[in-house]
Amino acid sequence: MTNKVTLIATAAMGLEAIVGKEVRALGYEDVQVENGRVVFKAEPSAIPRANLWLRTADRVKLLVGKFKAYSFDELFEKTKELPWEQFITEEGEFPVVGKSVKSKLYSVPDCQSIVKKAIVERLKKKYGIASWLKETGAFYRVEIALHKDEALLTIDTSGSGLHKRGYRVGQGEAPLKETLAAALVQTTNWHPDHPFVDPLCGSGTIAIEAALIGQNIAPGFNRSFASEEWSFIQQTDWDQAFQEAEDLANYDQPLNITGSDLNPELINIAKQNAIEAGLGELVTWKQMQMTDFKPKQDNGYLVSNPPYGERMGDREEVEQLYRDLGSIMRDYPSWSVYILTSYEKFEELYGKKATKKRKLFNGFIKTDYYQYFGKHVKK
Ligand SMILES: C[S@@+](CC[C@H](N)C(=O)[O-])C[C@H]1O[C@@H](n2cnc3c(N)ncnc32)[C@H](O)[C@@H]1O
Repeated sequence: MTNKVTLIATAAMGLEAIVGKEVRALGYEDVQVENGRVVFKAEPSAIPRANLWLRTADRVKLLVGKFKAYSFDELFEKTKELPWEQFITEEGEFPVVGKSVKSKLYSVPDCQSIVKKAIVERLKKKYGIASWLKETGAFYRVEIALHKDEALLTIDTSGSGLHKRGYRVGQGEAPLKETLAAALVQTTNWHPDHPFVDPLCGSGTIAIEAALIGQNIAPGFNRSFASEEWSFIQQTDWDQAFQEAEDLANYDQPLNITGSDLNPELINIAKQNAIEAGLGELVTWKQMQMTDFKPKQDNGYLVSNPPYGERMGDREEVEQLYRDLGSIMRDYPSWSVYILTSYEKFEELYGKKATKKRKLFNGFIKTDYYQYFGKHVKK
């Protein structure tokens, strides 16, 4: 019987419930959805699976301990009591990063060096080392996060953030984070049998994430993770997780996904990104003015992240774009339309109240996700 570990899948504000749903879909049951994170208990084999499969989480962190700390002494002693040797090997390299919010211990550099010293002391004792720890081995990024005097000590299992799928070779001015793009797609009830279009696709993030979802391709399939080097996770757990991803990918699922954009350079970048993602020619890319978009089939899904018109001079153009989109889509009631924008009067210009709205952050920009549900026609 393996000991369970506590994992924290971090999430952008507004995406927590979607991350929680993804964690449950992986089969984990002890799941708590909190602000900015989803906490769950599972066997260590969940580390490879969560990193490979979570489309909307930022990172997966391993919780080492949690306690109240009002003084540096307390922080030192309680950190030293934690079983670091269960995770970090004798040669492990473990830089400590930190943050502190509304806490008595507010000096982050001091907290970091105290945590570092406490772990060093613990490991030296456990490994029977009198001199320096070499730190030439696997990489363990330790984080001390203080919030209202509660210290949370974690080790990052992901390495680079999970939005880095490994397919982005180029991008436009305002690319959407892959994790947010995946969340936009997952919020719809699009099924790969239906047409899917992003007529303002930029570097193609939404269409590419839709294609990965459509064929059930694990988003982390093309990259590596910091914890692949960790010895407390069995190599067979990684092998099985990659094998599972291979087995579950449905490369035979036909897709009807199109991305178009006015800018030919971005269409080229989108094409290259799709190739890098292993999608080859599966997504159709077109250089096209949005007003030329004309659905040819019923029951489609339009999901897009248009320009927001936040820069001086762009506003009128963007307002006209929103009006045009509304008047085009009015003639296709079987289509569902999903638009992410920070423009507060979007519904007025589009000419219709959204069926549903959801508040989301695109980086630091406060946006709404306007959702118009189409009325599917029977074929
Ligand atoms: C915010 S960006 C989309 C970014 C994209 N989601 C990504 O991840 O790269 C908006 C895109 O709309 C395109 N665009 C603006 N006006 C357009 C129009 N009238 N027709 C087609 N594309 C347009 C721009 O070229 C830009 O790439």
